[in-house]
Amino acid sequence: ERTVKLAVIPGDGIGPEVIAEAVKVLDAVTAGSGIRFDRTTFSLGAARYLETGDTLTDADLSAIAEHDAILLGAVGGVPGDARLKNANIERGLLLKLRFALDHYVNLRPSKLYPGAPGPLADPGEIDFVVVREGTEGPYVGNGGSIRTGTAHEIANETSVNTAYGIERVVRYAFDLAERRRKKLTLVHKTNVLVHAGGMWQRIVNEVAGEHPDVAVDYLHVDAATIFLVTNPSRFDVIVTDNLFGDILTDLAGAVTGGIGLAASGNINPDGAFPSMFEPVHGSAPDIAGQQKADPTAAILSVSLLLDHLGLREEAERVTRAVEDDIQARDAASRPTAHIGDAIVARLQA
Ligand code: NAD
Ligand code: IPM
Ligand code: MN
Repeated sequence: ERTVKLAVIPGDGIGPEVIAEAVKVLDAVTAGSGIRFDRTTFSLGAARYLETGDTLTDADLSAIAEHDAILLGAVGGVPGDARLKNANIERGLLLKLRFALDHYVNLRPSKLYPGAPGPLADPGEIDFVVVREGTEGPYVGNGGSIRTGTAHEIANETSVNTAYGIERVVRYAFDLAERRRKKLTLVHKTNVLVHAGGMWQRIVNEVAGEHPDVAVDYLHVDAATIFLVTNPSRFDVIVTDNLFGDILTDLAGAVTGGIGLAASGNINPDGAFPSMFEPVHGSAPDIAGQQKADPTAAILSVSLLLDHLGLREEAERVTRAVEDDIQARDAASRPTAHIGDAIVARLQA
């Protein structure tokens, strides 16, 4: 009997709806397996902030850090909600977790499953992983504004890139490429962002020397968006900075059947802190509370979580059940819970 301590953060909007299905699937796949998930639910997000004024207290953070892994739905209110201005649920909660728990690998796989409703007429095989740096870049909050609110305002948002931070994520990406099709694409904007871009390119070149069997190429981020649509099969492992990775992975979700299918893991590969698994999408206030959300991204995030914990067989069973469910889909939309139930039924068959 193995016990895994799991922190669950359903969050806002569709977060609780998709997490309910992900938890059903987790229970179904581990039933009778000798692995017990001991779950603690943390009520965090825009809703909690509006009620109490708290985003993520030190007590919340240390309680979460005691767990073996984290499953998160989505956090954030309606974009533009004035009551959330400066509250920064995204910064004060989600990014705080990623930074404090040193989630330097933001792992975002993209696969076009047979039957998935992709928008491309002739997509070919799509199966790549974006290794997005998770703790640096323009996300660190290094900046500020002076003469705020005036016609003379100056607002700076400095991208922070360290050799240490780049090297560790680049090494992870090369190791992943070794286990896959041995192709790695660095995506950056070295033609304009010469300082950070130059360092990314240098470190990729250096680490490439230790991986002679991995084919390395480079694309500027704007060109990468072209190829993600016109020739996505050229990609195997993409390594990129925090902001480019954010943008590319919403696009990647769209070309592989929709953002409702895109899963992710915020990984601390050293194991010093719990890793956190979450769908790529947000709280989708436009469809929240209506059972319209696709819980598949959250369910595939459970598969990534199981795999991370070394539960490979359980991870694969979840992925296979999802694959079968996607293959059997027709145009009719199903309520969130029906999709979860159908995937659970496949696991139990
Ligand atoms: P979003 O991903 O929430 O929604 C974008 C579009 O995708 C919407 O039309 C939405 O209905 C649709 N969509 C998203 N998930 C879906 C699903 N599972 N099934 C079907 N359709 C789905 O992005 P947004 O509107 O830019 O952001 C809304 C809020 O979520 C913001 O506060 C934002 O900061 C936050 N956000 C949080 C996370 C996170 O918690 N990891 C990620 C992205 C955005
Ligand atoms: C994501 C989200 C977050 C990000 C936001 C909500 C901070 O868009 O997980 O992709 O930009 O990383
Ligand atoms: Mn995003």
